[in-house]
Amino acid sequence: MLLIPCVGRCLLSRWVRVSRRRRLSTCTDSSAPHVCIVGSGPAGFYTAQQLLKGHPSLRVDIFERLPVPFGLVRYGVAPDHPEVKNVINTFTQTSKNERCSFFGNVTVGRDISVQELKRHYTAVVLSYGADDDRKLRIPGEDHPHVLSARNFVGWYNGLPEDAYLNVHLDTDTAVVLGHGNVALDVARILLTPVDLLAKTDITQHSLEVLRGSRVRRVVLVGRRGPLQVAFTIKELREMTKLPGTRPLLHHADYDGLQKVLDDIPRPRKRLTELLYKAALSPSEDDTKLWKTADREWELRFRLSPIEVLTRAHKITGVKFAVNNLEGDDIFNQRAVMTSETETIECGLVLRSIGYKGRPIDPAVPFDTRAGIIPNREGRVTGETCLYCSGWVGRGPVGVINNTMADGFEVGKTMLKDIQSGLLTIKSQRQAIMDLLKQRGIQVVKFKDWETIDKYETQLGEKLGKPREKETSVENMLRIAAQ
Ligand SMILES: Cc1cc2nc3c(=O)[nH]c(=O)nc-3n(C[C@H](O)[C@H](O)[C@H](O)COP(=O)(O)OP(=O)(O)OC[C@H]3O[C@@H](n4cnc5c(N)ncnc54)[C@H](O)[C@@H]3O)c2cc1C
Ligand SMILES: NC(=O)c1ccc[n+]([C@@H]2O[C@H](COP(=O)([O-])OP(=O)(O)OC[C@H]3O[C@@H](n4cnc5c(N)ncnc54)[C@H](OP(=O)(O)O)[C@@H]3O)[C@@H](O)[C@H]2O)c1
Repeated sequence: MLLIPCVGRCLLSRWVRVSRRRRLSTCTDSSAPHVCIVGSGPAGFYTAQQLLKGHPSLRVDIFERLPVPFGLVRYGVAPDHPEVKNVINTFTQTSKNERCSFFGNVTVGRDISVQELKRHYTAVVLSYGADDDRKLRIPGEDHPHVLSARNFVGWYNGLPEDAYLNVHLDTDTAVVLGHGNVALDVARILLTPVDLLAKTDITQHSLEVLRGSRVRRVVLVGRRGPLQVAFTIKELREMTKLPGTRPLLHHADYDGLQKVLDDIPRPRKRLTELLYKAALSPSEDDTKLWKTADREWELRFRLSPIEVLTRAHKITGVKFAVNNLEGDDIFNQRAVMTSETETIECGLVLRSIGYKGRPIDPAVPFDTRAGIIPNREGRVTGETCLYCSGWVGRGPVGVINNTMADGFEVGKTMLKDIQSGLLTIKSQRQAIMDLLKQRGIQVVKFKDWETIDKYETQLGEKLGKPREKETSVENMLRIAAQ
């Protein structure tokens, strides 16, 4: 039996009856819904998966700004976490569905407008992620030795626009601002022995820069306390086991935690226990490992950056305001700055205080303060046949599993709207392809991406790594056209 779990069984049987009667269940069915998805990250692919699974003849076209698919799975997930990238197999399976097509190298909002897409498709889903970052707006923030963690991540992952970022590692101390998982990712990449990174898909260019790095100490600074950190247990444990590296955790920060441990709900409890144990009673194995370490990472709390201090062309440190934590709910306490200050000396600053969404088309409503497209259950506020999923709709938080759940939910909402006749069935892909052709856009299909993929893995093989990413869009397009 054909299984369509997300819409009711009666809905399924109606579709099957209709499609049998009209003999319309093939992928050339022009009276079947045809959905356009903008962005090929997890949100785009999981929304597509749900739509294809939930409707027997619906078609999906995925438009992606880059010639290559997979969004942050390719350009965000750390190179030393290859297992996370296995989701690419599921996305590839979705792309191989005969009712799904991928069109890379198409920037929506520039090469084609959202209005044009709406005119020719039954519905448009915006799942283009959040590719800007939050700023601190403090003096010195624009100094070239202050990097956004987003750009640094793009640099080591080979994102074309960041691949040749100026990364200055001629300092012994880097300060990372923020206590999220991205902060731990960038700290780990700065401290991991280069020979271990060399076996990953990190780009050769960044590997060479990291090989010459003088950084021996990374200080991760958060504005709140150990009970409010945003990173998670697996990532913290990995830091405590990093070869040749020891944590520097100040006892005073953890002393009081014992009292509240029993009342903390999971998984925060396990995370706090790990922090507490690493600071106050590390295992013998860990102590042994840390004794011989020549690099170190340090966690600092209750400090808000107020100025990046510079001299000539260099950074000399970051000045912080010391914070009090206020509020009765200990997990949601606010950081309130006092007049007391502290300076941490360093030569490099990585700002890791979160990503931010941005508008891509003036015709689409956008909440610039929150950095999201306003929506209810994925339906864009005040619009018909326009939806959003993933980080652009929910904000830049959540791991791939959260984004998957969101993509599935939005897919279900859309299936309901199709079923209830809310959407006008339109399927005019050719009109969009004609426009793109007129505008001189070289569209990259999924099979062309597979040519790029093969090229990268073959190059990687020669270097003893899973792949060496092509970082030039021009070269990607040349390889795709072969
Ligand atoms: C540094 C980092 C590391 C992470 N590591 C992990 C991890 O280890 N494990 C985990 O579970 N989660 C991880 N996450 C979270 C995970 O990456 C996100 O949950 C997920 O990628 C969000 O999916 P998305 O599709 O909304 O956005 P994205 O993945 O950003 O996808 C958006 C896509 O839209 C495309 N796009 C943008 N603008 C346009 C346009 N105008 N036209 C067409 N296409 C466009 C982009 O190129 C991109 O391909 C990490 C996040 C970051 C930032
Ligand atoms: N391995 C993984 O699974 C992995 C890896 C990377 C990313 N991710 C996920 O991707 C998402 C994004 O991660 P992220 O680290 O970018 O964001 P995040 O989890 O939201 O963390 C942002 C950090 O920046 C701090 N911050 C925000 N504004 C600040 C300000 N003005 N001044 C000082 N500090 C400020 C936050 O502190 P406050 O709490 O005080 O606001 C928080 O510590 C998260 O869901 C994360 O779990 C997962």
